[in-house]
Amino acid sequence: MRLLPFRFEENTLWLLDQRRLPFEEVWVACRSAQEAAQAIRAMVVRGAPAIGVAAAYGMVLAHLSGEPPAEADAALRQSRPTAVNLFYALERMRPHWGSLAASLQEAQAIWAEVEATEKAISQHGARVLRGQVLTHCNTGPLATGGHGTALGAILEAYRQGRVQHVWVDETRPYLQGARLTAYELQKAGVPATLICDNMAAHLMAKGQVDAVIVGADRMALNGDFANKIGTYALAILARHHGIPFYPALPLATVDPRLETGAQIPIEERPAQEVTTLRGQPIAPPGFPAAHPAFDVTPHPLITGIVTEKGVLYPPFDEALRRALGL
Ligand code: MRU
Repeated sequence: MRLLPFRFEENTLWLLDQRRLPFEEVWVACRSAQEAAQAIRAMVVRGAPAIGVAAAYGMVLAHLSGEPPAEADAALRQSRPTAVNLFYALERMRPHWGSLAASLQEAQAIWAEVEATEKAISQHGARVLRGQVLTHCNTGPLATGGHGTALGAILEAYRQGRVQHVWVDETRPYLQGARLTAYELQKAGVPATLICDNMAAHLMAKGQVDAVIVGADRMALNGDFANKIGTYALAILARHHGIPFYPALPLATVDPRLETGAQIPIEERPAQEVTTLRGQPIAPPGFPAAHPAFDVTPHPLITGIVTEKGVLYPPFDEALRRALGL
């Protein structure tokens, strides 16, 4: 059965606490937009499409709890800066601020679109994968509320017999790969092996990686895209070794206002997430640490962009504008 990161029941947004996976399945109740915003900021729910859906339901909660919609919208906008899906969902909710029924309907529609687009992304993505695939971070159902983007394509390619094995980057410092992707692949019964992020080059040099596929949090119109920190390094490694490299994303992850990736805001998270591992210190007390949570991969390193409308090939600016109808 597919894992879902949220459900909306009895006027409450229930979030599966992804900070505690894979060790405990604990559900957190959100009954206001402020609570939903805090849960997004704290990474109870994470992954670009999933935080978009959670923010949309956050606006439904604003109605139910009597919060002024402008304040609710502002709180949700301030929760996490990089994934454009959050802002996309909030823009879609704006015309429905005045009606509970309409906002509930719109939140449901946003979630349903995630499901439909990811089904198509999985099918298109599966066609470009084969053999042993490497992925980074977590892009499965937990990150989206649907089938998953990059991981959806991997699961579909495995089902079709095209992919036999998955290398899972642990994804320091938050360990979305070790905790969440490994958990999803294990539940799906897909043969997979966990690696530290710094092992990818070695495996590529040994000919043990046939393709790299990752998700995206925001893509500019030229194809540059932000994704979990470490993605850019993987793209460089893949290019050096002649391995195809694909981001997989719904077109809603493309920000049509941005010409290049230099304009994408990059979230800085607490240094403590780097200096500790699940609460245990791993560096001298007080030692400075940096934590940019995302990096930007320049479009020349991309082989193809997997979207719900098919796989786009260079020149990406033309292909993306066409796919977006611009
Ligand atoms: O910080 P996170 O866990 O929200 O980051 C998630 C990612 O970087 C994913 O790769 C991205 O959101 C795509 S999810 C389909």
